Amino acid sequence: MQWFSVSLYQQTLSVRGWKAARQPVVLTVTPSTNDVARHHMAQGVCTGTVVVAREQKAGRGRMERSWASSPGGLWFSLILRPQRSPEQVVLLPLTVAVAMASALTDATEGLPIGLKWPNDLMVKDKKIGGILMERDGHGLVVGVGVNVNQRSFASLLDQKAISVFQLTGTEVSLERLLAGSMNAIYRYCREWEDDGGQATLEAWRHHSVTLGREVRVSLPGRQVKGKAIDVDDGGSLLVDTAEGTVRITAGDVTLLRQA
Ligand code: BTN
Repeated sequence: MQWFSVSLYQQTLSVRGWKAARQPVVLTVTPSTNDVARHHMAQGVCTGTVVVAREQKAGRGRMERSWASSPGGLWFSLILRPQRSPEQVVLLPLTVAVAMASALTDATEGLPIGLKWPNDLMVKDKKIGGILMERDGHGLVVGVGVNVNQRSFASLLDQKAISVFQLTGTEVSLERLLAGSMNAIYRYCREWEDDGGQATLEAWRHHSVTLGREVRVSLPGRQVKGKAIDVDDGGSLLVDTAEGTVRITAGDVTLLRQA
């Protein structure tokens, strides 16, 4: 039996501009949907093409981490070719995070989703989803992973990860969640194109579980500790430390005690 109903997905999809989004590439198992999407992108497929898999055998996350991708989660990669300046493109990861928070809240009838800088989706200080953007000369792949219907996680992951089912006791349709995610990403990307990301930044601050918290940021070869105070216009995290305000453009944030 097919694990994913394209017609159910199409019933919920309302994206107007990305025609290719109507015909997702549906896979049962693959190493990584990002790799499949990059391959398709190099062949010149249209913007809005989306690849979704039931299971990934070599899913990857930010900072070269592996990403556990068993059946029950939503694992997809979307092809974009943003025609914007590099200064504006830096806000795209935050834009997609805001869109995914909105899609997940809608799909779960109100589960509040927090954002940990730059684009982790969080509930109760555990990770419910993440976003990995990869860019090459052909365009941009937006890889999204959401823990949806998994009943449990392997013991080490269990301390850090949580699924929608564990929180609500209810299964969510992966077809409807993918379509809702595409609708939200499309909507927030249009807004980002129109205003350069100002609404993104406001929405990100609103969802943030990082700002106001004591954080430790791991950077190549050093760590920064302090209080996360804001994101600047370029989406960088500003951390108030004993040595003054440090601007973080890339790094791994750990949330410390509640402020
Ligand atoms: C992170 O938080 O570290 C990002 C996780 C991104 C995981 C998704 S699942 C679909 C796509 N394919 C991958 O191999 N990774 C992304």
